[in-house]
Amino acid sequence: MKKVVILTGAGISAESGVPTFRDSDGLWEGHDVMEVASPQGWAKNQELVLDFYNQRRRNIGTVQPNAAHIALAKLEEKFDVTVITQNIDNLHERGGSGNVLHLHGEITKVSSCDYPDLVYDIGTKDICVGDTCERGSQLRPFVVWFGEPVPKIEEAMEISAAADIFIVVGTSMAVYPAAGLIGYVPNEARKFVIDRVTPSIGHYPNLEVLEGKASEKVPMLVKQLLAEERG
Ligand code: OAD
Repeated sequence: MKKVVILTGAGISAESGVPTFRDSDGLWEGHDVMEVASPQGWAKNQELVLDFYNQRRRNIGTVQPNAAHIALAKLEEKFDVTVITQNIDNLHERGGSGNVLHLHGEITKVSSCDYPDLVYDIGTKDICVGDTCERGSQLRPFVVWFGEPVPKIEEAMEISAAADIFIVVGTSMAVYPAAGLIGYVPNEARKFVIDRVTPSIGHYPNLEVLEGKASEKVPMLVKQLLAEERG
């Protein structure tokens, strides 16, 4: 089976009602991104940061996967598929994808400040200042903040380097190391970029740009790839 690797960003979830980051002047739901997504922001105001992610977590409980998430899952009928997502929502899983790597963490999980290997599934529940892990350390969102290492990046590089087809959906390609993954994809692999506004990504061989809404362009591409594979 050919390997299809999909790199997604906030744009794929936009039509489900999850706001993107850079479509709103660098503000994320009215907050400076550094205030709510950096270790410095956390050191300054834990309550604000926890409250911000509590709201994101509640929001996840109310939104549904859209046609783009659902179409990507269909690729599994004919391809060996890995979704590498920068998103912390769980819409790929709920859309049916079986193999999802979350580069920037997951909103439905929390980890311990002092014991980062302690990770807990909390679904859509809130966490507050004073909520601790079993070893007494404050819980924090299981999210990679600016300036923090991205533990899964090496795995993502290896997966990208083995792709026969690489599809980028709904990311401004502004945040590294995620944006650099396309550089690991073999020259001969077919590459597709789907975005409402084509991001600047440099020149790669075998690259096709499909400008438009994810909910329209992704199902079209999936249909085409499945038809080609069926012959
Ligand atoms: P951005 O907000 O930077 O980019 C969203 C992209 O989606 C843009 O290129 C939009 O044009 C596109 N877009 C918006 N609506 C769309 C639609 N309906 N169909 C198709 N495309 C659409 O989000 P990311 O690239 O995901 O990191 O941001 C990367 C990282 O920066 C995030 O994971 C987050 C953020 O800070 C952390 O939190 C660590």
